Amino acid sequence: MRLAPDVAAVQIETVAMGIQRRHRLAVELAQQDVRQGLHDGRRRTREEIRNTHLQPPVFQPDETVRIGEAAEHHAQIGQRSARPQLAEHPRIDLFRRFEEKRTLETLDVAHPLGVVHLLSRVPRAGPFGCTFHTGMGYPEFLKERTTLPKAKISALGCYTPPRVLTNQDLEKMVETNDQWIVDRTGIRERHIVGPEMATSDMAIEAAKCALAERGVAASEVDTIIVCTVTPDYFFPSTACLVQNGIGARGAWGFDLIAACSGFVYGTTTAAHLVAAGTHRKVLVIGADTMSRIVDYTDRATCILFGDAAGAVLIEPAGDGEDDLGFIDFIGEVDGSGGDFLKMPAGGSRLPASHETVDKRQHFVFQDGSQVFKYAVRKMYESCRDLLKRNGLTGDDVAVVIPHQANKRIITAASDRLGIAPEKVLINIDRYGNTVAGTIPLATRDAIREGRLHKGDIVLFTAVGAGYTVGASIWRWAY
Ligand code: UT7
Repeated sequence: MRLAPDVAAVQIETVAMGIQRRHRLAVELAQQDVRQGLHDGRRRTREEIRNTHLQPPVFQPDETVRIGEAAEHHAQIGQRSARPQLAEHPRIDLFRRFEEKRTLETLDVAHPLGVVHLLSRVPRAGPFGCTFHTGMGYPEFLKERTTLPKAKISALGCYTPPRVLTNQDLEKMVETNDQWIVDRTGIRERHIVGPEMATSDMAIEAAKCALAERGVAASEVDTIIVCTVTPDYFFPSTACLVQNGIGARGAWGFDLIAACSGFVYGTTTAAHLVAAGTHRKVLVIGADTMSRIVDYTDRATCILFGDAAGAVLIEPAGDGEDDLGFIDFIGEVDGSGGDFLKMPAGGSRLPASHETVDKRQHFVFQDGSQVFKYAVRKMYESCRDLLKRNGLTGDDVAVVIPHQANKRIITAASDRLGIAPEKVLINIDRYGNTVAGTIPLATRDAIREGRLHKGDIVLFTAVGAGYTVGASIWRWAY
């Protein structure tokens, strides 16, 4: 092993060694002159990594390697046996030196369930603490993986409850009228669940629909992400209820609270899980039962919301599909806007009490005009920036699928973007604002109406309570 003159210290952090041996080696190297230590220890080091016939690594003169840096785990591209290496960092990327030398052996951590906790081998390395749901042991997973997969949406299913609440119905409940609602929001009717259903029930229906469309069994699902602000309970999470409801045995999952941006955040999260190569079938569900937290005596909010759920399955793109799937995401949260749209009570800030109930603080509160102005500006800015950094213009986008909060927000933002109205999907007239459900519902309608085809670029965009802002672009994959 050759060492550059100015190398200060070296960490040999290979998972091919036992922890104690690795530790001992690192301590020894730290305690003595590193150059001399490495020189003297060359043979032993090479034995440690069971490399008796390959070239040793070479450290560049401008590199130092610090003891105590955590390692990451990467599959190597285009090679027969995969190997661990340090993080992609110029100063600590020690094992890149081994990359073309085949100096490390495949990990011996096979598990019958294909679930590997590398923490047991590299206790200090955070990124190793990952659970893999590949249906195979980690060595096999690494061997099979030759490149980072791209994530694609492969199926979509929706659920809307049969009961419809029209503007005319609302005219009988609060002082409003159809004309005002249509003019100010674009909404004509919305769907409301029956008393027997909650968010998980709608989410389960949507999930089953998506899985059936793809012909995938629930037992194949790795992960369930439920985006919602109206979970059945604070805990257990709705994802747990969905897992049990669809029979996704062995899946893991969680709820994601990002209000109207939930579905954009959830699909982006799923895309990254898939792109990491560790997950193959991620269900993302946007589901909200807003009728349970809307005050039907408040005309400013009760006309806006409806109930629905939509689910997508996100998987690695297949052979020959390199150009399909997730392209990019832009997101921002701005908590300074939190007071403009919220449910004031029921959390740890203001737990439920007689007083909170009397003050109707368990319902949606909104300062509509504040949210309106922010939503128009941020929907425009996020889409503009996302398209620009990907070298795209509105002409390249086949269809824009915006969160459906108000028709005027959508048209104002898309006009500023210069996107032709016929490219912008609006279905708020039939469903109202279903929060995390709007984008999957609108995507379903885009497909049904023949406005979204394989290979098309689709732009998802949302602004919601929080504030939360998110936009993503995908090349549609089916
Ligand atoms: O999805 C999450 C993010 N949410 C949003 O993006 C929603 C953003 N905000 C909005 O969409 C709009 O602000 C609303 C639709 C909520 C309200 O529209 P607006 O044009 O901002 O109306 P406004 O609140 O300024 O109210 C205008 C007038 C008021 O009367 P005065 O004070 O001018 O006499 C309201 O009392 O309209 C009145 N009004 C209504 N009239 C008939 C408010 N609600 C109603 C109603 N029917 N339902």
